[in-house]
Amino acid sequence: MFIASVRLATRLACLAASVLLPAAAFADAAQIERGRYLVQIGGCNDCHTPGYFLGAADMTRYLAGSEVAFEMPGLGAFAGRNLTPDKETGLGDWTAEQIVTALTTGERPDGRMLAPIMPWHAFAKLTAEDAMAIAQFLMSIEPVKNAVPGPFGVGETVPMLMFRILPPGATVADAPK
Ligand code: HEC
Repeated sequence: MFIASVRLATRLACLAASVLLPAAAFADAAQIERGRYLVQIGGCNDCHTPGYFLGAADMTRYLAGSEVAFEMPGLGAFAGRNLTPDKETGLGDWTAEQIVTALTTGERPDGRMLAPIMPWHAFAKLTAEDAMAIAQFLMSIEPVKNAVPGPFGVGETVPMLMFRILPPGATVADAPK
C-alpha cells in the first residue's frame, strides 16, 4: 500500500513536472546530452585533457587543456587548449556561436586561425545542430583554471612537452618522469 502510494506520488510529480517545465528545458537537456556524446566520440578528450598523452587522463580536469604541444614543421607548436568555461584560461568569455565558428571554420574570436592539428577541417562536416550541441555541452561543464601555454612560432623555445616528428632511425623514449 505504502509502495503503491509512493509510486503514485512519483507519477504525479513527473506529470506535474512535464506540465510545468517549458518544452525548451527538455530540449536543452537533450541538446547537452547530445553534445556530451559527440565530445566523447570526437576525440576531444585526447588532445584537451591533462595527462591523457602521459597515460592517465586527469578526469577531475576534464577538457581543461593538454600539457603536450604538437610541433607542426613550418607552422609552430600548439597544445590542446582549455575548453572549460573558465573566464581567464578557458572559453568562459566565448559565446556558443563563437565556439561553433572555431570548431567548424577554425577561426577564433580574435581572428587567428587554429592550427590544423585541431581537426576543424573534419568538424566542418558537423551539422549545425550537432556543432551547437557540442558548444552547449562545453558551456555546461565545470570551469577549471588551467592556462595552456602557446601557441609558439617557428624558432621559439617551447617550455612544455612536445610531440615532434623525427627522421627514421630514432628510438622510443622512456615516459617522461
Ligand atoms: C588531435 C588533437 C585534437 C583533437 C582530437 C581536438 N582538438 Fe581542439 N584543439 C587542438 C589543438 C592543438 C588546439 C589549439 C590549436 C591552436 O592554438 O592553433 C585546439 C583548439 C580548439 C579550440 C579553440 C580553443 C582556443 O582557445 O583557441 C576549440 C574550441 C576546440 N579545440 C574544440 C575541440 C572539440 C570540441 C573537439 C572534439 C570534437 C576537439 N577540439 C578535438 C587539438 C585537438
